[in-house]
Formats: sequence, C-alpha cells, structure tokens
Amino acid sequence: MSILLKGGIVVSAKGRRQLDVRIDGEKIVEMGTHLKTENSTVEDVTECFLLPGFIDAHTHLELNNGKGSMGTADNFYTGSKAAVAKGTTAVIDMATPSKGSSLKDCLAAWDQLAKGNSSCDYTYHMSIIEWNPAIKAEVKAMIDAGITSFKMYMAYDNLRTTDAEIFEAMNEIHKYQGMLGIHCENGDMVNEMIAQFVAEGKLSPHYHPLTRPDSVEAEAVERYLMIADLANLPVNIVHLSTKRSLEAVKRARARNQKVFVETCPQYLVLDEHLYDGPDFEGAKYVCSPPLRSIGDQQALWDGVIDGQVNTISTDHCSFNFEGQKTIGKEDFSKIPNGMPGVETRPELIYTYGVTTGKISLERMVGLISEDIAKQFALYPQKGIIQAGSDADIVIWDPKTTGVISATTQLQNVDYTPYDGMQTKGSAKAVYLRGQKVAENGQVIAEKQGKFIFRNISKNN
Ligand code: URP
Ligand code: ZN
Ligand code: ZN
Ligand code: ZN
Repeated sequence: MSILLKGGIVVSAKGRRQLDVRIDGEKIVEMGTHLKTENSTVEDVTECFLLPGFIDAHTHLELNNGKGSMGTADNFYTGSKAAVAKGTTAVIDMATPSKGSSLKDCLAAWDQLAKGNSSCDYTYHMSIIEWNPAIKAEVKAMIDAGITSFKMYMAYDNLRTTDAEIFEAMNEIHKYQGMLGIHCENGDMVNEMIAQFVAEGKLSPHYHPLTRPDSVEAEAVERYLMIADLANLPVNIVHLSTKRSLEAVKRARARNQKVFVETCPQYLVLDEHLYDGPDFEGAKYVCSPPLRSIGDQQALWDGVIDGQVNTISTDHCSFNFEGQKTIGKEDFSKIPNGMPGVETRPELIYTYGVTTGKISLERMVGLISEDIAKQFALYPQKGIIQAGSDADIVIWDPKTTGVISATTQLQNVDYTPYDGMQTKGSAKAVYLRGQKVAENGQVIAEKQGKFIFRNISKNN
C-alpha cells in the first residue's frame, strides 16, 4: 500500500508545481497530476505546500555529553523531537571530542548518543580541536565512515587551534574532498577584552557583545579566507553574523574564491539591545558570535536575498537559564555560550522572510533544505521532493498563526529567545522516510531517525 499526497503544491529551490506525490516504503516513487488512487492511502493536502524535509546543518545537541552544569539542556532525544515536530527531518550535529580523545572515539560516542534516540535522521560534522599526527591520520577514516565535513575553531581556549594547524587540516581534509567549516572569531582579542572588562568590574551580560565586536569576527573571517586562498581551497564559514564579515566574503568571491556562508535565525530576527534586559535576562542571549546591530541584521537579510548567504542553520546549543546561564550571574564571561533554536527555524524564516516578502518560498527551501543538502553531500537523497529521493516531506500549512512560547515548546530548555514572537505558517504533518512522524506540531512516532551515510560532496 503506497501513500498518495494529493492536491498539494510541491516546492523546490527552483520553482513550484501542483503535483500528487506517491510514497512507497521510504522513498518517493512517483509524481504527477491525477495519479491513480487505487491501492493507496490518500492524504488530501490541498491548500498546503509540500516542502522537502528541512535540514539543520548546525546543532550542538550533546555538547559536553550532556554532563554536569555545562552539558547542554537538550540531548539527541529531546532536540531531535523538537526538530522533527516542526519539519526538520535531518540534523548535522557537531560531534565534539574532548582533549586527548581520538576522532574515532568521538564518533563512537556520538553514535551511542544518537542511535535509537533520535527522532530525525542525523549525521555529524567532526570537530577537530587539536591537530597532531594521530588526528591527521584519522581524517580519511572519518570520510570513509561517512563523515565528510569537519569543524575547527579560531576562538574558545579549549577548542581552538592555530592558523598553521587550520592550514594543514584544510589541506588534509581536501585531499579526500571533505568540507571544513570554521568558527571565525579572533580568540586572543576576545580573551584580551574579557580580561579588560573583568578588571574594570564590568561584569553584566551587556559586556558580552563588547568583547566580541564585529571586527573580532571580520578579522578572523578575512584571515581564514586568506589562509584558504594560500591553500587554494574552498571554505565554509559557519554562523556568520556581521556586515563586515560578509564584505570580506564578497571580496574573496570577487577574486574567485569559493566560499560557503551560513547564518542563523538569531542574527536575522534578534539584535544586541537584548543584552540590556532587566534581571540578568541578557544572559539568555549570550552566544558567540553575539547578537548584532540592526545594520548587521539588514546586511544579512540582503545577503540572504541576493545569495551571498547560502544557508540558514540554527547553531542550536541550549542551556537552561536557571542553573546554567546563572552560573555567570557575577561575571558574564562564565555564562555558557549558546541558544536553543532547532525547533523554531522554519516558522521564523517563513514568517520573517517569506510572509514579509523578503524572500520567496523557493528561496526558503534552498536556504534551509536543498542548498544544505547539496553542500553537505546529502543531495539528492535529501533536500528535494522527486522520485527516488527519501520521502522526507513537510506538509506546510501557510494559513496557521502561532506565538512562540517557552511553555509550549518541545525543546528541553526553560526559555526560548523568541518568546512571544508571532508566527505564520507551520508544519501540518511531517514525513520521515515515508512515515508520518509528526502532526500539528506534535511527534506521533518518535525515535525513528537513522544515521545518514554521506558520500563525498561534488561541490568541493
Ligand atoms: O555560542 C555558541 N554559538 N555556542 C555553540 C558553539 C559554537 O560556537 O558554535
Ligand atoms: Zn561556533
Ligand atoms: Zn548594552
Ligand atoms: Zn556552533
């Protein structure tokens, strides 16, 4: 018995068409007009859009393995449920080893955390937090294991490596056509400014963004781009947040460098004034890079519109306000960095991007699904509704309205940075590899996620 989704409008990054979609098992098997209904369970999806399952290419569901006060509030079980309920059918989580650990052990640890717990499909970017001959020797093994993308950091003392190490790693990863993403902030300057503010007794969350101004990010972006230019290799910049960084990217592209740029919903719909909230509220928004100015927000939207920004993922990294963010009550530099968002991305981008007329629904599909799938070697298994692809399909109802609220969210965290924001449009139903796993924002079949084995991307 196949499933026939009848009467909806199928949307891709290139266009839209009214088409019936037949699902058999885990796959889409047929698309067309007036498909036969015999031997099929027919789902009437008229007045809805059929969108390819959304992919979040930047989550930290298990940072610090969920252990102790610095472990993330969400884990694979809660985070993936929140994701799939609202249409995100796959995540690429940041597998992050601790110092001294092999990549292989980290991969095994992440598999253990995800397997049997995840309600959406998943794979990982492998974080490289130190570079030595043993780690270098593991790069190929990761690619062979289906982990074709990596992340390195230019900030955070426990995670960052040197420029030379990034250069070497970039070359090694590229030998096997892997993709390297970088967290671009000048770690030395961040440390210096934190030390200055702390010495002056400037300890409230107001000072967090002042320790990481746009120049701190733009310098690191420029440096990374120059290192990549030296290596003659493509680059991937995660969570780009400022106008000046985007200008550096435009300069690199003008000299024919290949650059992929990710931004996140928080940089598009929130801004730095939130650090000045009453009662330590500003701590809720402590993430790195920090929220930016309205001018930066505008520049990022322009980049989203004109294609200079390629993808939007969340950098979901949730910490409770009570008991976690409050660790930094006397000193902002102790506040754990990160915000939740894996649940809210589709509705935010639809509401603040599509319904405002900034972007088309086609562009939204590219930004949060199709172009991510292409960049990270998931396409055409994921990221598109076509015969042969996984039946990861979001039945999007454009007519609903809602209000984001910590009390109704599925994310396992005691606040949401978007509390009270109005939304339009939502996932009426979500299919994961042919199975209806969510309906009206609630998960009806949990823990159905599987590891996605990736073959080398043709993009890089
Ligand atoms: O503040 C953030 N973004 N925390 C998560 C780790 C990272 O930098 O991506
Ligand atoms: Zn980062
Ligand atoms: Zn302020
Ligand atoms: Zn991150």
